[in-house]
Amino acid sequence: METTAKRKFNVREIREDFPALRQLIYGKSLIYFDNGATSQKPQFVLDAINKYYSKDNANIHRGVHLLSQRATTEYEDARKTIAQYINAKTSDEVIFTKGTTDAINLVAFSFGELLTAGDEIVISAMEHHSNIVPWQMLCERKGLTLRVIPINKHGEIIQEEYEKILSKKTKLVAITQISNTLGTINPVKEMIAKAHAVGAKFLVDGAQSIQHMQIDVRDLDCDFFVFSGHKVFGPTGIGVLYGKEALLDKMPPYQGGGDMIQKVTFDRTTYNELPYKFEAGTPHIAGAICLGKAFEYLNQFDLEAIKAYENELLDYAQDLLLTFEDMILVGDSKKKTSVVSFNVEGVHPFDMGTLLDKQGIAVRTGHHCTQPLMDFFKIPGTVRASFAFYNTKEEIDVFIAAVERSINMLK
Ligand code: ALA
Repeated sequence: METTAKRKFNVREIREDFPALRQLIYGKSLIYFDNGATSQKPQFVLDAINKYYSKDNANIHRGVHLLSQRATTEYEDARKTIAQYINAKTSDEVIFTKGTTDAINLVAFSFGELLTAGDEIVISAMEHHSNIVPWQMLCERKGLTLRVIPINKHGEIIQEEYEKILSKKTKLVAITQISNTLGTINPVKEMIAKAHAVGAKFLVDGAQSIQHMQIDVRDLDCDFFVFSGHKVFGPTGIGVLYGKEALLDKMPPYQGGGDMIQKVTFDRTTYNELPYKFEAGTPHIAGAICLGKAFEYLNQFDLEAIKAYENELLDYAQDLLLTFEDMILVGDSKKKTSVVSFNVEGVHPFDMGTLLDKQGIAVRTGHHCTQPLMDFFKIPGTVRASFAFYNTKEEIDVFIAAVERSINMLK
């Protein structure tokens, strides 16, 4: 796909690229507002999946035959595309994983092996379970301490508390760039500088940011950046761990098996170089290739135009939701992306979600894998509408009418 001249942002045309958007749900046009959970896929990516399995399907790095060579080239080209997209120094810094969760577990295990009892890991109170539990497991395994930065009622990390928590004992800070539940955009660049000042490394959970903003890992100066393919218009089951080369070089392998080795004997095994040291076994070849295609697709657009459009959707939806009596928006940070979490007093989020579904509208309800955050707000869950660049204000109008209808039925 040609990426030099940027494609003009036209939502009608963009919607044509996504076949899943053209379907009826209970007889109504689908309104897909669950992009925080997963994004829909453009035809360009779907065609690449079909092409890979119909023509190029072979194992990589192993075959002398042409199919294997083609598959290997495409797999490694995808790695290069992704490395360029996030501005990694070299494609060796891009490790394919199963997704964000897998990438965080890899770091928790492997980087964790370099830590010793008494060291501290720092996270925030708004983290997804996938950026809590692996650290708890590591702390238990190695006798480390997990410190949690509190947030304020707007759903923002309290920076003064972060500064107080940081110390020489801090070895790693792991923070989401955008909260999946609140939409809060965290000032990770400033937080990274503060972590580095005490000698700590910094992992950015980019699961909710990679699809909304241009990521430049060298400008951020993060040590690790992780994300999932399926949230950035690519397939499920594939994700990325970016890590600084020197750091990844020091870290031991996470899993053993084929491809991650240089030489195996029964006495001793030596490990492969980056990135293969961290990719044991046959990887999700089609997934990686098609994630590369998702970035090629995204590369056509000016991300700033997408961001501006998504912000318009956010403001429009929030303003309309706030016209309802008893409406509670959960998370009103000054810096937010296109995620609206809300509750209506006297209405259970699950009931609202079910009635919206019956009106053809897909939202997520529940705790959004952030139970400690729900405890902070003293709520069981929220209704969450999360928008992508293919959503429209007309869809939001239909959604608002459906919310009103649902409230009238439930109260
Ligand atoms: N983490 C995904 C979400 O926020 C699944 O919905």
